[in-house]
Amino acid sequence: MVGVIVITDDSRKGWLNRIAVAPAYRRRGLAKQLISAAEALLRAKGIRIWAALIEDWNQASLALFRSGGYHVHDDITYVSKRESPDV
Ligand SMILES: CC(C)(COP(=O)(O)OP(=O)(O)OC[C@H]1O[C@@H](n2cnc3c(N)ncnc32)[C@H](O)[C@@H]1OP(=O)(O)O)[C@@H](O)C(=O)NCCC(=O)NCCS
Repeated sequence: MVGVIVITDDSRKGWLNRIAVAPAYRRRGLAKQLISAAEALLRAKGIRIWAALIEDWNQASLALFRSGGYHVHDDITYVSKRESPDV
C-alpha cells in the first residue's frame, strides 16, 4: 500500500480523513488522485460538500487541498474532548 484516504459522511458533508502517501511516492500526484476518487464516491451519494481538518503546521497538506480548490477557513475553531489524557 502506498497511499490511503478514509472517507466518511454525515449525509450532507463528506469528510476526507487520514490521507497519507508513503514518502517514496510523494509528489507524483497520488494524493490528488485519492482526493478526486473520494470526491467522486461522495458525489455518487449525492454529497456536494467535501471537507478536511488540517493542522496549521501541515503546509504540505494545506498546499495539497488548496491546489484542489479547497477554501481555507479562518472562522472555525476545532473543539475536542478526551475521556482521559491517554486516549
Ligand atoms: C500531504 C500528502 C498526503 C501529499 O501527498 P502527495 O501524493 O505527495 O501529494 P501530490 O503529489 O498529489 O501533490 C499535489 C499538490 O499538492 C501540493 N503539495 C503536496 N505536497 C507538498 C509539499 N510537501 N510542499 C508543498 N506543496 C505540496 C502541490 O501543489 C502538489 O502539486 P505539484 O506536485 O504539482 O506541485 C503527503 O505529503 C503525506 O502523506 N504527508 C504525511 C501525512 C499527512 O500529513 N497527511 C495529511 C493529514 S491532513
